[in-house]
Amino acid sequence: MGTDVLIVGGGVIGLSIARELSKRGVRRMMVIDKGRIGGEASWAAAGMLAANAETRIDDPFFRMCVESNKLYPQFAAELLEETGIDIELDTGGTLCLAFTEREEADLAEKFAWQTGAGIRVQTLEAGEIREREPAVSSAARYALRYEDDHQVENRKLVAALRKYCEIEGVELVEGVQITGLLIEKGVLLGAASRDVRYTASKTVIAAGAWTTELARTMPSVGTVKPIRGQMISFAPPERFLHSVVYTSEGYLVPRTDGRILAGATVEDAGFDKCVTADAISQLKAMAVRTVPRLGGVDVGNAWCGLRPLAEGGYPVIGWASEIRNAYIATGHYRNGILLAPLTGRIAALEILDGSRSAEYQYFAPRDAAMTGNAAAAQSNKP
Ligand code: FAD
Ligand code: GLY
Repeated sequence: MGTDVLIVGGGVIGLSIARELSKRGVRRMMVIDKGRIGGEASWAAAGMLAANAETRIDDPFFRMCVESNKLYPQFAAELLEETGIDIELDTGGTLCLAFTEREEADLAEKFAWQTGAGIRVQTLEAGEIREREPAVSSAARYALRYEDDHQVENRKLVAALRKYCEIEGVELVEGVQITGLLIEKGVLLGAASRDVRYTASKTVIAAGAWTTELARTMPSVGTVKPIRGQMISFAPPERFLHSVVYTSEGYLVPRTDGRILAGATVEDAGFDKCVTADAISQLKAMAVRTVPRLGGVDVGNAWCGLRPLAEGGYPVIGWASEIRNAYIATGHYRNGILLAPLTGRIAALEILDGSRSAEYQYFAPRDAAMTGNAAAAQSNKP
């Protein structure tokens, strides 16, 4: 079975790359997933586009997040036109709340350097928080508001990307696990499942938290570790929260259909995808402390996903150094939804004409795994 580009992993990263390649004229393309397309971390995520709120330092990673965030309005509009699926880009903004003196001091310090770095951030006093979000606890004493940090319904995003691929004739293969790569004399010729060899001119490995198993012959990629995130959701009878809300213990994400998601744990638990009673009760307690009215609403659903955390703490995007024709796109950890449109573009441009802008060189396999700024990488770790 031969194709031009084979993409192993049908999460938001693999699908975004497929879309960008298709837009640039690649016709014979296949995306293979061991499970359901878009059924892993990309399905489990909260969909926040937290380019600014989750930022601790001004570095290439932060600048990449900002760039990708800027692509979202056009990305959402194009996907709607191409597929009829609205990914629900919600521009209600994001609040980071402080409940204690210490948390207020931390946020005030963050405000000082973020304004210095040119980030659009505004401070809110207690009364202003209540004016904006009446359902937030009266114990919230101070907040930062990010008007540029939005959210999307990530499950609709993967559905839209999938539909785009179907419309454009990208072959989607589900329920087939790639168990090995076809390497001959330092060149990657494709990948194989237990029963089938899939040959391709170029192979993209976008296998998220499972990348290490496939890229073990490519030390430049480094290891990618699964970091479990558990989440819950509430379905209150009416919509009483409009902004994404962060606290020091977690976040709340109000969906346009009225649901409120509460997340998320950050656990080094291997590939175990259990949802635990402890996590559910901790997330519920965080949610009720933040928005007391949630105390009267039952937890509707609970789920989890595995974030892909690369060794250097940053995404790894680029050609593997050891093997020709092996393109890697992984390690998006807490920000894969945010970074999907930009990752798709970076990868498509590099795969098709070898061009890569200098600002993204930082994330090339060798650089990301071996020269990651230690302090920055630390700030991006659990
Ligand atoms: P995945 O979506 O995991 O896709 C990888 C795919 O590869 C999987 O479908 C898998 O089945 C397939 N695969 C793996 N190995 C093989 C193989 N051998 N053969 C075939 N197929 C294979 N990001 C944000 O930007 N904003 C958020 O608010 C946010 N919240 C999150 C909340 C939680 C609880 C979690 C868990 C993550 C969150 N993230 C968020 C992170 C985001 O979900 C990930 O960074 C992103 O989904 C990674 O996309 P991916 O395509 O690399 O991985
Ligand atoms: N970005 C939110 C999370 O990973 O939980």
